[in-house]
Amino acid sequence: MQILGNVRIAGFAEGSGQATLSDPSAIVIDGARIAWVGDAADLPGEYEQAPRRDLGGRVVTPGLIDCHTHVVFGGDRAREFEMRLEGASYEDIARAGGGILSSVRDTRAASPDQLLETALPRVDALLAEGVTTLEIKSGYGLEIESELKMLRVARRIGEVRPVSVRTTWLAAHALPPEYRDDRAAYLRDVVMAGMDRAHAEGLIDAVDGFCEGIAFSPDEMAQVFDHAASLGLPVKLHAEQLSDLGGAVMAARHGALSADHLEYLGDDGVAAMARAGTVAVLLPGAFYLLRETQLPPVASLRKAGVPMALATDCNPGTSPLTSLLLTMNMGATLFRMTPSECLAGVTVNAARALGLPDRGAIAPGLRADLAVWDIAHLAELSYRIGFNPLHARIVGGEFV
Ligand code: NIG
Ligand code: FE
Repeated sequence: MQILGNVRIAGFAEGSGQATLSDPSAIVIDGARIAWVGDAADLPGEYEQAPRRDLGGRVVTPGLIDCHTHVVFGGDRAREFEMRLEGASYEDIARAGGGILSSVRDTRAASPDQLLETALPRVDALLAEGVTTLEIKSGYGLEIESELKMLRVARRIGEVRPVSVRTTWLAAHALPPEYRDDRAAYLRDVVMAGMDRAHAEGLIDAVDGFCEGIAFSPDEMAQVFDHAASLGLPVKLHAEQLSDLGGAVMAARHGALSADHLEYLGDDGVAAMARAGTVAVLLPGAFYLLRETQLPPVASLRKAGVPMALATDCNPGTSPLTSLLLTMNMGATLFRMTPSECLAGVTVNAARALGLPDRGAIAPGLRADLAVWDIAHLAELSYRIGFNPLHARIVGGEFV
């Protein structure tokens, strides 16, 4: 049992969703959970003897949640970045065997230790800014053993660093060359058969896919989602990033936790997501690096009441981004989200995108995952560029 005293607690106003800061308050932590939150003068007698830490009036938010990353991969794609600046498009490079497939070659060749060693600096950069829960996808193996290797490394990250890791099966990320002439066989023998293996090994928290002209169609992904449902696994989808194929509508129909990217999402997609309660995970890092000009329909999502999350999409091709604070800034400046929406996007709505009702807010019973900041206003988290005001990170009740 411990008491965090003299803290100003971030919350959201009922109705407006405006981020609010409490007057100086106290948070009681019991083990890994929050036990009590309120005015120190009202502290229940049973907590009075607990050790107290004065946080000097600092701001406390829920620990940040990066709900969409590909942080485990081999190699890098800096040369592709140069090619795109010289005029090649992301799709041109993918069709020429580069893009995701170039990371697949490097990921297949890497040992688990090499993958871990190269992922950790990226993870550490995220944690340094207050991240306490991190989603990590497979998807650069595209063969069962290599996909399992990626997910085992992802799980290992959660053992060697103080962070909760959630793992996502993304074998339906691209079609590997060895299956060029038999898409159905890839879906059956690798995506679904591998899902069974990974699930049996306890390596999957959710199933994802890349629904796009250069990847898989909504019909193909629907088969994958049906298979996930047969195993009781929740689903999510990379949808409408480069074109509107109706992926989000299909995902919503399958009760998806989230549909992600969404630059080309149409009104039907917005309506379907609102009905299903599917979270819109917006990824401004990829929008920025691809110098995309089509904006995700933030105003329509807001109007329809679709919860919006923000994530780094940390990956070697389209978003080599390891800052969730910069992601919040981009959400505001590029996507016109309010600073309150940006904060909800990396806390409560990100938790929802991962199907984790035990975190993302500061309330009794929830996990004691918290970030303590040297800031005066919550909007500073979205406003400053390249500055890290984190004072401390608390994971499962422990200062780290
Ligand atoms: O989320 N869109 C598909 N997947 C990744 C990019 C993968 C890559 O290019 O390596 C993304 O942007
Ligand atoms: Fe992604």
